[in-house]
Amino acid sequence: MTYIKIQQVSKFFKRRGQVTEALRDINLEFQQGTFVSLIGPSGCGKSTLLRIVGGLTEIDQGEVTIGGLSPGGAQRQKQFGFVPQSPALFPWRTVLENMNVPFEVNRKGGDAESENREDPIELLQSVGLGDFVHSYAKELSGGMQQRVGIARAFGSGAPILLMDEPFSALDEITRERISYQLLDIWESHQKTVLFVTHSLREAVLLSDKVVVMSARPGQVAKVIDINLPRPRQAEIEDSEQFHYYVSEIRASLRERWK
Ligand SMILES: Nc1ncnc2c1ncn2[C@@H]1O[C@H](COP(=O)(O)OP(=O)(O)OP(=O)(O)O)[C@@H](O)[C@H]1O
Ligand SMILES: [Mg+2]
Repeated sequence: MTYIKIQQVSKFFKRRGQVTEALRDINLEFQQGTFVSLIGPSGCGKSTLLRIVGGLTEIDQGEVTIGGLSPGGAQRQKQFGFVPQSPALFPWRTVLENMNVPFEVNRKGGDAESENREDPIELLQSVGLGDFVHSYAKELSGGMQQRVGIARAFGSGAPILLMDEPFSALDEITRERISYQLLDIWESHQKTVLFVTHSLREAVLLSDKVVVMSARPGQVAKVIDINLPRPRQAEIEDSEQFHYYVSEIRASLRERWK
């Protein structure tokens, strides 16, 4: 059953008399529990689309529904977890205390769902941070902080995670390692994820679907289903099929340069 439905969505930004057409006629449908990557040139509207789905940006035309709700309605029901480029941690709180933040916010809203929450220590172990549970967030490296952000999002109870280039500030080796950890944690949780990346490798490794976008105005160039078996392991990157998908995305991105 379709969970996230984006129909004929267009978005214009108006500033100082100038109008930017950010998105044009976007049509996309995703099932619950799908890992979707959005890939495309800078400025093609990936972040805007993510913000629209998350109820943070209004649309000018079209309709977006999340399980039948408007994005704003879904947001009020705490359906979204955001993972931005740099993790929004409290530096003077411990890693474990930072894991509690989504639940503190919920409690203020009179929400008592936090009782059957997942064990935050197990979540931290699954991203390789079992030894840093009681460290202050400010004592962690950038990559470690980003892993706390990911573990926190998966433990937050939100069924949809919106991840906007969460690895872009990391070095190549850390980034590769974290992508495997994200793969593992996603495969054990199967949340619906919209993941913005500029990495073809990450898109293929992680996704069920890759949405290739073209620039100005942002449009959907192609939706590619990644039919690689799961669970996936690092070796999959050496397979012919993996390379085939990477080439297919690259070709689709290049087509738009012409
Ligand atoms: N708040 C805003 N006000 C005016 N224009 C905006 C605003 N947000 C985005 N835009 C414009 O909309 C277009 C799409 O921007 P967006 O940030 O969604 O692109 P992106 O694909 O995420 O790019 P990048 O890969 O560089 O992050 C750009 O032309 C940008 O200048
Ligand atoms: Mg962006």
